[in-house]
Amino acid sequence: MAPSPMTTSSPPIELSDRVASGRSSEVRKVFQAAMRRPGIISFANGSPFLGELPFDRLADEAHRILTELGSTALQYGTSNGIPELRRHIVDLMALEGIAADPEQVIITAGSQQAIGFVAHATVNPGDVVFAEGPSYAGAMAVFSSYEAEIVHVPSDEDGLIPADLERLIGGARAAGKRPRALYTVPNFQNPGGMNLSAERRGLLGRICQDQGLLLFEDNPYGLLGFDGGTMRAIQPDAPEITFYFGSFSKMFAPGLRLGWVLAPETMHQHLTDIAQTAALNPSVFNQLMMAAYLDNPSWRDTLATYRGLYRTKLEALVGALTEHMPAGTTWNRPTGGFYLWVTVPPGIDTHELVHEAIERGVAYVPGTAFYANGAGRSELRLSFCLPSVEEIRHGTAILGGLFTEALA
Ligand SMILES: Cc1ncc(COP(=O)(O)O)c(C=O)c1O
Repeated sequence: MAPSPMTTSSPPIELSDRVASGRSSEVRKVFQAAMRRPGIISFANGSPFLGELPFDRLADEAHRILTELGSTALQYGTSNGIPELRRHIVDLMALEGIAADPEQVIITAGSQQAIGFVAHATVNPGDVVFAEGPSYAGAMAVFSSYEAEIVHVPSDEDGLIPADLERLIGGARAAGKRPRALYTVPNFQNPGGMNLSAERRGLLGRICQDQGLLLFEDNPYGLLGFDGGTMRAIQPDAPEITFYFGSFSKMFAPGLRLGWVLAPETMHQHLTDIAQTAALNPSVFNQLMMAAYLDNPSWRDTLATYRGLYRTKLEALVGALTEHMPAGTTWNRPTGGFYLWVTVPPGIDTHELVHEAIERGVAYVPGTAFYANGAGRSELRLSFCLPSVEEIRHGTAILGGLFTEALA
């Protein structure tokens, strides 16, 4: 006999305090709403454009890995990742002045997981984590899940302002709180698109050292400067306190889910233990694929192609904003990465308008997603990585029309 359909709903499961007090991701909500509309132009996703990847070559590598190394590739692996890939990671970090030993690197399922491991190891309830205002929503969600208080530090076009950080650390101490860490995205920041100046990098490292703060340096976009240059990381100046996060998601593809953390020496074993508890090990097959991609020097040409493409898309976006946005709207002009930050005139609420924008066929992320304190209603992030130039022009015209109407 067929089971009868359930007519009563089960009682809700009581959530842990930690989860109950969290807020669900606005970025994810916008994605979900956008995904339901076919043909939507999305300025919301921080997803790289993958159309230029050498898929045939990657398929050959997958075949080779499975035929030659199948029983290693599909087996459990070591918690900190395979040595071949850790060696490549050390070479990549050397481009930013970091001198590391492959043994110090821990490979994770994306840098998001690495941020989680480090927060798990270092952040206690009530600790203060400082971050740019605005900051990356995914990292803030991690810190909040460990019940940290996030305090935003004002930023300008040169990134986070060191004097404001010092002032806010003093304020937190005076209020009896424990300043624990600075979280910063120094290169082509998500969501603001700004770059931390060389001078400020040195200053921030010194302030964190002097004040007893940890430094969480998150760098998924460092290789995506339009001019092909890289900036010196903060890590070399403060290696005893810096946790440096890297990712293959933006310079290659997020689908293999690979990132890493380079931690102060004393933390290495703790983080390896946490990695083991959380996931046993990152996928060996995926790591072998990533290492094979980097073994062939043509990855640099592919990356150069992407940098050119993203620059063209940014230029299209800036041109379209100039043409279509109402007077009083301002935006920055990033020199790399995926994101441009827009400030709209008073009278426009980007948080309120996002649903109407989606109705009209365009998605963006309102500024409120990137502040822990409710700020950001006059701001929005536009990601220019995924849409085509045509879509960028058309989508910006729709947004410009919507914002102009909202002001009328
Ligand atoms: C600043 C920043 N950090 C970390 C991540 C997470 O990247 P992944 O987990 O794909 O390596 C992202 C993704 O958008 C990001 O923008």
